[in-house]
Amino acid sequence: AATPLYDQHGRPLEYLRLAVTDRCNLRCFYCMPEEGIKYMPRHELLSYEEMLRLTGLLAGLGVRKVRLTGGEPFVRRDLVPFMERLAQLPGIEDISLTTNGVLTAPHVPALARLGVKAVNLSLDTLDRERFFQITRRDELPKVLETFHALLDAGIQVKINAVVMDGQNIDALIPLAALSRDLPVDVRFIEEMPFNGGSHEAGPASLPWNHVRIRQLLEDHFGALLPVSMAAGATASEYTIAGHRGTVGIIAAYSRTFCGTCNRLRLTAEGGIKTCLYDQGVLDTRALLRGGKSDEEIIAALSAAFRHRAANGFEAERQRPLHQLSFESMATIGG
Ligand code: GTP
Ligand code: 5AD
Ligand code: SF4
Repeated sequence: AATPLYDQHGRPLEYLRLAVTDRCNLRCFYCMPEEGIKYMPRHELLSYEEMLRLTGLLAGLGVRKVRLTGGEPFVRRDLVPFMERLAQLPGIEDISLTTNGVLTAPHVPALARLGVKAVNLSLDTLDRERFFQITRRDELPKVLETFHALLDAGIQVKINAVVMDGQNIDALIPLAALSRDLPVDVRFIEEMPFNGGSHEAGPASLPWNHVRIRQLLEDHFGALLPVSMAAGATASEYTIAGHRGTVGIIAAYSRTFCGTCNRLRLTAEGGIKTCLYDQGVLDTRALLRGGKSDEEIIAALSAAFRHRAANGFEAERQRPLHQLSFESMATIGG
């Protein structure tokens, strides 16, 4: 692999999060308003060809791991052939997926064939009625089908559950309990202020922070034993005595992972984000469609990454939660 590029704060470039679509087939209330967000017309999204060119250049700057994100990445047509080509790029060692799982089940054999080792599945409740209330769509059966298909195929599954006061607190124990008999990592995420301008106002503060989530789990399961965190990881991972799998807590709101952040984000329309919280620091679509050479694009990508802020998170965190950011996670890809 290429020697990674380091930013001005000594953090390496290793991990690219590629949002392959800005569309989503669910309407999770913490992410989008009922009517959805304003989607880009097709030609304003990067083509697969353009994404492959950029990823290839980024591999030359150190990127080894690519995570495709949605909503549901399979909302975009012909994703599997794209992944096949991605896997062939020199330097790309690890391709993974974060998805809501609604359309993934039929593609699980293809993912296994491609050597996809891990899939992160968003799932906030195991109750069908509650799932409908949270996502405004009745798709729990398909998500569960995906979950079991992945496990059967031997693909590692991490469940992502956003913890929402008054919405799914009673779902946390049943979700965590999946780790008793299944080799799954169940991760609980503090809610963040990205909801695409949903009219349903968020809370003014964070009632369920990582400390309280951990306490709830320990009250039920006994001690959570910490597993050491990999550099750049978002989740604190724990084992529970007698469980095959693990549980994790992602303090996405009350803690910062900035110190070891090794990631770069590319939005579906070609915006580079060097931080989850920045508004986009480079328009790669303009470069790609403006006839720039590889060298020119590499120079622009390197400069953007080198100059990234030490911590894009603090300003955002100091705002009360109800002062919502208008961006949606479906656009950012998480
Ligand atoms: P792994 O590659 O398995 O470690 O996945 P991941 O945890 O990086 O990614 P995933 O797509 O499963 O995201 C899980 C949650 O972590 C989502 O809610 C993300 O938005 C959140 N998250 C990911 N990266 C960051 C980050 O840089 N800062 C913050 N605050 N949250 C993040
Ligand atoms: N706060 C925290 N997590 C969120 N996600 C989407 N919106 C939010 C939010 N406002 C999660 C999804 C998915 C991951 C990529 O981001 O549930 O698991
Ligand atoms: Fe829900 Fe994710 Fe779709 Fe947003 S992008 S509506 S969080 S499934």
